[in-house]
Amino acid sequence: MERPRIAGVIYIVVSLALVTEMQINVLAKDNPKRRTKEKTGGFQKNICDITDRDSKVHCYCENTRELRNATKAECWVFNGGIPRDDVIWQSFASQPNLQSLSFNVRVDGALGYVPNRALQYSQKLRSVNIKYGNIVDVAPYALANLTNLREAILTQNQIENLQQYAFAHLPNVTMISLEDNMIIEIETNAFFDLPKLQKLVLTKNNISTIRDGTFLHTFNLLELDLNKNNIFNLNRHTFDGLANLRKLDLRRNRICNLTEFTFAELWNLQELLLGKNDLKFVSERAFDGLSQLRKLSLEDNDLARLPTGLFEGVRGLSSLDLRSNKLYAFTFDNIKPIFDNLKPQNSNLLLEENNFVCDCQLKWFHLLHNETKSQNTRDSLGSVTCQMDPPVVSAAYNKLPDDSINTKDYNQEILHAGITIETQNAKNNVTVKKSLEEVKDVITDNNDINQETAKRGVKRNVLKIAPNTLPCPKKEIKTTELPPFMVDPIIPIQNEMKTYRFEDQTNVAISLTPFQFQVTVLWSVWLYLFLT
Ligand SMILES: *[C@@H]1O[C@H](CO)[C@@H](O)[C@H](O)[C@H]1NC(C)=O
Ligand SMILES: *[C@@H]1O[C@H](CO)[C@@H](O)[C@H](O)[C@H]1NC(C)=O
Ligand SMILES: *[C@@H]1O[C@H](CO)[C@@H](O)[C@H](O)[C@H]1NC(C)=O
Ligand SMILES: *[C@@H]1O[C@H](CO)[C@@H](O)[C@H](O)[C@H]1NC(C)=O
Ligand SMILES: *[C@@H]1O[C@H](CO)[C@@H](O)[C@H](O)[C@H]1NC(C)=O
Ligand SMILES: *[C@@H]1O[C@H](CO)[C@@H](O)[C@H](O)[C@H]1NC(C)=O
Ligand SMILES: *[C@@H]1O[C@H](CO)[C@@H](O)[C@H](O)[C@H]1NC(C)=O
Repeated sequence: MERPRIAGVIYIVVSLALVTEMQINVLAKDNPKRRTKEKTGGFQKNICDITDRDSKVHCYCENTRELRNATKAECWVFNGGIPRDDVIWQSFASQPNLQSLSFNVRVDGALGYVPNRALQYSQKLRSVNIKYGNIVDVAPYALANLTNLREAILTQNQIENLQQYAFAHLPNVTMISLEDNMIIEIETNAFFDLPKLQKLVLTKNNISTIRDGTFLHTFNLLELDLNKNNIFNLNRHTFDGLANLRKLDLRRNRICNLTEFTFAELWNLQELLLGKNDLKFVSERAFDGLSQLRKLSLEDNDLARLPTGLFEGVRGLSSLDLRSNKLYAFTFDNIKPIFDNLKPQNSNLLLEENNFVCDCQLKWFHLLHNETKSQNTRDSLGSVTCQMDPPVVSAAYNKLPDDSINTKDYNQEILHAGITIETQNAKNNVTVKKSLEEVKDVITDNNDINQETAKRGVKRNVLKIAPNTLPCPKKEIKTTELPPFMVDPIIPIQNEMKTYRFEDQTNVAISLTPFQFQVTVLWSVWLYLFLT
């Protein structure tokens, strides 16, 4: 009888010791034995119920803190220096049913990477949101190949580089936002195997060049937002792969040239926003291929003229914003391919704040104003102004044929503006010398010119000028001896330069009125100064 009793006591003691040992293990925070257990799928803490005041991460879970029951967690990162494989991330195994997880970094520099260890344990996640980190590099597979993830929002994390496969193998993701970071580099295949991605937001970054093929694996993208970057260069391969894209936002960049076929891959694009760039040169075929395009905004650029067939390739266009450019002409040939689209009520043609020259090429403004049902278009046309140039100027710019006019000639409107200023000065009895100085100053500074012209030009409301009284440059050509060849209402002064150099000066002078002659002399003097 004694022996079994002793055995029983020993059994109880051993059992108690084991239970105590287990409890100690459960309570101990950084017990190495515990760690080995975590590696096999265990966990250390309930992430929704961290009582340790020194913990670097605290989470608030909606509705329940119970183990494995939370679906939504908001976590704050309070302290920096958390290693990528810190146990705290493993604690997310305590809540494998999380569908929504956000990290809000409360201390500068506290989170320098996407905690993909934590994400790995949350296979049911549909939404990840990380804010205010200092995640300079997004490493490959940062979002842990989460199959249920729908959206990833990584705003304001000082991200500079998206490495290869940064966003990859996310079969259900529809939206990725990287707004307000400092992205400079997007490596090839940074976006990879994202078959359902519909919206990609890269607004407010520092992207200057987009590598060809960057979007090759995001073929279901519908909306790409590149607003507020530093992009200056686009080519026909930049947007390869985006055959389904509907909306492309490139506003507030530094694009100055649009070469041919830039958007040729985007044959489903409906909305193209290019406002607030530095556009000066647009190839006649820049928009070719955009057969579905409805809305094109080009406001706030430096466009002085539009190539004649620019809208041939975008015949569905019904909303066009060209406000705040430097357009001096906008011919009926320009608008013809889309003229009928501008008649319905919901169409738009916005043209205010340009440098139009009052001439008969603007007659169609009256016509459209009469025929359109769009109140926006009517209002806009109603407030477009044009500049009545002093007669001498129109005579000057109608004088010559020009073979060298091309769209790359950015100086046209600058020099034209120069003349206007000068003639205005002459009228105001400013000395010749002074106006020459001014023209020189003006020519050295692009930006001042248009302000100057705007201030001094006689601006008139286009619609208030009876269409048949708008001066027609072509008629005046007949009065000169030169061939009636006209490409443009404004012939750049460079051609005058050529004339004065290569043609018989007296002939030119004789055909001029005294006032014109005065200007001619003035220009010759200036040219002399300029050329010497
Ligand atoms: C935990 O989740 C289960 C299943 O969703 C539910 O039946 C149970 O009531 C939940 N417990 C609490 C405390 O919310
Ligand atoms: C994601 O998938 C890729 C390709 O299958 C694999 O190489 C990578 O290790 C996976 N990453 C994670 C974190 O699961
Ligand atoms: C996408 O999510 C649905 C619903 O959560 C799931 O059934 C499906 O398997 C996921 N797709 C992939 C490719 O994992
Ligand atoms: C943007 O990138 C350029 C280099 O491309 C760098 O010089 C500049 O400092 C960056 N700007 C910001 C705000 O990070
Ligand atoms: C724009 O085009 C002009 C003329 O084709 C060229 O001289 C200039 O370098 C281009 N600018 C850029 C930024 O590509
Ligand atoms: C516009 O309509 C008015 C009144 O119907 C008409 O007198 C005028 O000729 C029209 N102008 C043009 C350019 O069609
Ligand atoms: C210009 O000055 C001359 C003489 O100084 C004067 O006769 C003439 O009326 C002035 N013209 C104008 C437009 O002020």
